[in-house]
Amino acid sequence: MSDFRAIARGILQDNDRGGYTVPTAGLYPFQWNWDSAFVAMAFAEFDVPRGCLELERLIEGQWDDGMIPHIVFHQPSDSYFPGADVWRTSHRIPTSGITQPPVFGMAVKALHDSGAPAERIRPLFHAALRYHRWWYSARDPEGTGLVALLHPWESGSDNSPAWDVALARVPTTTTTPVKRKDTGHVDPAMRPRDQDYQRFIHLVDTYAACGWDAAEQWDAAPFKVACVQTTGILLAAGEGLQQLARALGEEAAAAELDAMNARSRAGLDQAWSDADSRFRSLDLVSGQRVAAPTQACFIPLLALDLPAARMAAAEQEMRRWCEGMLVSFPTTPRDYPGFEPRRYWRGSVWPIIDWLLVQGLLRNNATALAEDIRHSIVTALETAGFCEYFDPTTGEPCGGGHFSWTAAAYLHLSQ
Ligand code: DGY
Repeated sequence: MSDFRAIARGILQDNDRGGYTVPTAGLYPFQWNWDSAFVAMAFAEFDVPRGCLELERLIEGQWDDGMIPHIVFHQPSDSYFPGADVWRTSHRIPTSGITQPPVFGMAVKALHDSGAPAERIRPLFHAALRYHRWWYSARDPEGTGLVALLHPWESGSDNSPAWDVALARVPTTTTTPVKRKDTGHVDPAMRPRDQDYQRFIHLVDTYAACGWDAAEQWDAAPFKVACVQTTGILLAAGEGLQQLARALGEEAAAAELDAMNARSRAGLDQAWSDADSRFRSLDLVSGQRVAAPTQACFIPLLALDLPAARMAAAEQEMRRWCEGMLVSFPTTPRDYPGFEPRRYWRGSVWPIIDWLLVQGLLRNNATALAEDIRHSIVTALETAGFCEYFDPTTGEPCGGGHFSWTAAAYLHLSQ
């Protein structure tokens, strides 16, 4: 019988590039923000110093305003587009100019809880605090309680149906030529379409023309969605950081985090829809709630104790999405017209999303559903391997292989 945990650890080792972990060779040859946070949480369970190092390497890329970029280009590689030359940012280590879901604070808390020493945790805590301040000031300047994304890549779920309406408004014109590399590594039928890339790069060009100034970008953004998934993760991280602040004797920071967290809690509460049995993001350009059903709508469970009636409704809806699926949890339900089970984020199953959903369900005492999802993804991994994601209808492995955050999710979910 295979020792899958040993295989998972081996993947993390193979993808180590000197204290940081690339998501997978070739397709993603640099350090990615939320990938590294998941990897650090897995290391927290068996190699705490290495977990700290993962985050320390990531914050080498943190900007003066507190933003932690979604990519840190530690070393050159020409196997990925868009590389550092396209982003044109001015940090001393080349980075991208946008961010990713703020799992970072959750990882700092996990490392602390696993016994990381205060001299390593305190600088990471302060980096996380600066990051959270950036989110609230740069991405919720009006204090609505939901933080906004200015680029679909910031959601981590790049071509999710959640962005279809908002992204369609973004022009397909670019000043940067679009020279995709991803489709040379992976079947193009599993990747976003060319039109999506044209729009993704239009946004990069737009923000580069703002000199990456946060306030200028906010005013210029043709894509601006206040996101329930990002806010749910930010709040979960914020709760952990608040406890950590108290443990470190940082009372002023604890009070500040308390206030930021309360703001998110209120924003999420208003984003619940009784009619849909789920949370809904808000398109700030149109003023409309996002109608497309995606996994994002359930991520707030991670950070909220839902009233019983809401939780019962959410659980029923989540079970409905799982009906007839070989692997759970599909990131879009099969009856939605935009469902494409193999095309990246348009319905496929992602082990790290299952990790977050399982945690949210357990928090809300939905233990049977949490166990069903956990068991389903662990079985899929043991059957098909450590791929980037799965087709929920067939269990087919999709995207890149030998994938770091998948190994991390397995290490966490299989114990
Ligand atoms: C990609 O390039 O596919 C990423 O998801 C953007 O970070």
